[in-house]
Amino acid sequence: MTESLTVRDNRTGQEYDVPIADGTIKAADLGKIKAGDDEPGLAVYDPGFVNTASCRSSVTYIDGEKGILEYRGYPIEQLAEGSTFLEVAYLLIHGALPTKAEYEQWEHEITFHTFVHENVKGFMEGFRYDAHPMGMLMASVGALSTFYPEASMIQDAENRQMQIVRMIAKMPTLGAWSFRHAQGKPFVYPDNELSYTANFLSMLFKMSESKYEADERLVKALDTLFILHADHEQNCSTNAVRSVGSSQVDPYSAVAAGIGALYGPLHGGANEAVLRMLRRIGSKSEIPAFIEGVKNGNERLMGFGHRVYKNYDPRAKIIKKACDDVFEVTGVNPLLEIAQELEKIALEDEYFVQRKLYPNVDFYSGLIYEAFQFPPEMFTVLFAIGRTPGWLAQWLELTQDKEQKIARPKQIYTGDRGLEFTPRDVRWA
Ligand SMILES: CC(C)(COP(=O)(O)OP(=O)(O)OC[C@H]1O[C@@H](n2cnc3c(N)ncnc32)[C@H](O)[C@@H]1OP(=O)(O)O)[C@@H](O)C(=O)NCCC(=O)NCCS
Repeated sequence: MTESLTVRDNRTGQEYDVPIADGTIKAADLGKIKAGDDEPGLAVYDPGFVNTASCRSSVTYIDGEKGILEYRGYPIEQLAEGSTFLEVAYLLIHGALPTKAEYEQWEHEITFHTFVHENVKGFMEGFRYDAHPMGMLMASVGALSTFYPEASMIQDAENRQMQIVRMIAKMPTLGAWSFRHAQGKPFVYPDNELSYTANFLSMLFKMSESKYEADERLVKALDTLFILHADHEQNCSTNAVRSVGSSQVDPYSAVAAGIGALYGPLHGGANEAVLRMLRRIGSKSEIPAFIEGVKNGNERLMGFGHRVYKNYDPRAKIIKKACDDVFEVTGVNPLLEIAQELEKIALEDEYFVQRKLYPNVDFYSGLIYEAFQFPPEMFTVLFAIGRTPGWLAQWLELTQDKEQKIARPKQIYTGDRGLEFTPRDVRWA
């Protein structure tokens, strides 16, 4: 079998052989196809990159048709069941599971770096009383680049590792403080005797007690949610991290860009929309009328369907289990009944079956977060903490990829050309 594509340009009658490698052709090869010597080469128009590979990556594998998600080759189900978020973070960053000694060293380093400079606290206090925690997180991660100016030396491997450790370590501190600020509560310093996720819960919820120790089942459930969100290959925020990182800026600035992308409702905000929808439906008896409305195209069933997963979202199954564990501690969220009934009806309905619409990761995650008493504005902050090792693993890969260049797409220009400029005093006379 010849691994190439024969293209005939009907403008000129000329044929071209374009090599195929890894199921792709190089866009630059298409650039050699020209209608005339002075004409620009053929380009690909792909808003939203729906069919463009932007990099080679060995971090995360997804097969949407089969419902497979693997980090560095390990199925998400096995990692969620048997690993911890910190171990998964190590796996994503280093490409292999740690030995005992490597894990202990990693855990020590991350724990050691959870504190932030006191001045960070000062500027976080300066945000308006009702500041959105995601805006605060984005700004404070960006600001860390000014505290660690050596982070700009991205060619230095040791330096890169140092910033990666710092960022994974400080993200819960910054996330928790963003939450406390909106509540008018004092910031809680990290407790380095606690695990990564238990410490995060302590910084969120500790009041006057000398030590805050969350229920182990809650710690485990949140840790699992972090694992589920740790990477998802070239999604919008990861693409933002890579795109900004391609200018060779420091990793804090690149990750701040990723947080900006995640802030948007099309990326990180669907679970909040699920909660709003469940609340609006209000009771099980209203579900059939709601489903009819969805089928008539009035609105979408939020938390269903996915651009990539067309069989099922493997993360959704795991989240359902975490739901049970959390509600055992917190008591059942009355919206859960509506969600479960909605899922049951939708999975049997021809409309959803035919279109391969299944619950996605967001269908149940909002319910869990609400049970923890997080306000909806915090949902994306939690997502960002979980996604940080993924962003950094992708950024690390980018910095060492010889094929990468500064991200600079082409455009199809649709504006005017060659207009004559008339100075203001003539134009306005
Ligand atoms: C995630 C999503 C944007 C993916 O969209 P997509 O891959 O571009 O799929 P399309 O929009 O092309 O939808 C394909 C068909 O399924 C329907 N569909 C997709 N998601 C649907 C939903 N949640 N409810 C009802 N119908 C839906 C579309 O109307 C379309 O039907 P048609 O062929 O009759 O026109 C989409 O499924 C959606 O909006 N889901 C709800 C929001 C959500 O949960 N987002 C979180 C994603 S993690």
